[in-house]
Amino acid sequence: MQLHPSTTPLTDTKALRRAFGTFATGVTVVTTGGDVPHAMTANSFTSVSLDPPLVLVCIDKGAVMHQCLTMTGTFGVSVLAAHQEDAARHFSNRYRSLGAAQFEEVEVVQGMFTGVPLVEGAIARFECELWSRHDAGDHTIFIGKVLALCQDADSEGLLVYRGQFREITSELREVTA
Ligand SMILES: Cc1cc2nc3c(=O)[nH]c(=O)nc-3n(C[C@H](O)[C@H](O)[C@H](O)COP(=O)(O)O)c2cc1C
Repeated sequence: MQLHPSTTPLTDTKALRRAFGTFATGVTVVTTGGDVPHAMTANSFTSVSLDPPLVLVCIDKGAVMHQCLTMTGTFGVSVLAAHQEDAARHFSNRYRSLGAAQFEEVEVVQGMFTGVPLVEGAIARFECELWSRHDAGDHTIFIGKVLALCQDADSEGLLVYRGQFREITSELREVTA
């Protein structure tokens, strides 16, 4: 087997970021409530386990959200709908102070089980309790146990691919895994 000619050793963070960006994902807003109300756009959200029901998010150690998740035992995840690009952009701005001001421009509702803020109109919303955390380089992996969820079967999700927000436009085909 021949070596691929355009494979390069990893020296360039920008190239790594671009390569990571070829993996299309949905877009979520991770939220904390109580004494540390805060929200942050994240596409590292992943489902982990059905039994127990676990999800994960990877949070930059420099993010305000990292401190919030360290201080609180619960968090929310709102999976954004295709029309919620503004919310994705809003919550990807760094907020140095915690508090309700961050939520003035985007409508949120309070989770029934944990009280965490959840984005109104999101296509799925999860309320989670912190299950475990794992050190991972410049990020920490936070695993949450899903306590409650709600979903909207009719709306399409917002996507991010190659550093750009996208919408689903092509014909849909069943996955039979
Ligand atoms: C589409 C998108 C996805 C993002 N995903 C993540 C992520 O998974 N983890 C992360 O730490 N930051 C992620 N970010 C960056 C944070 O949203 C951004 O750094 C934010 O300013 C952090 O806010 P905070 O410091 O106020 O908590 C993402 C940004 C965008 C636009």
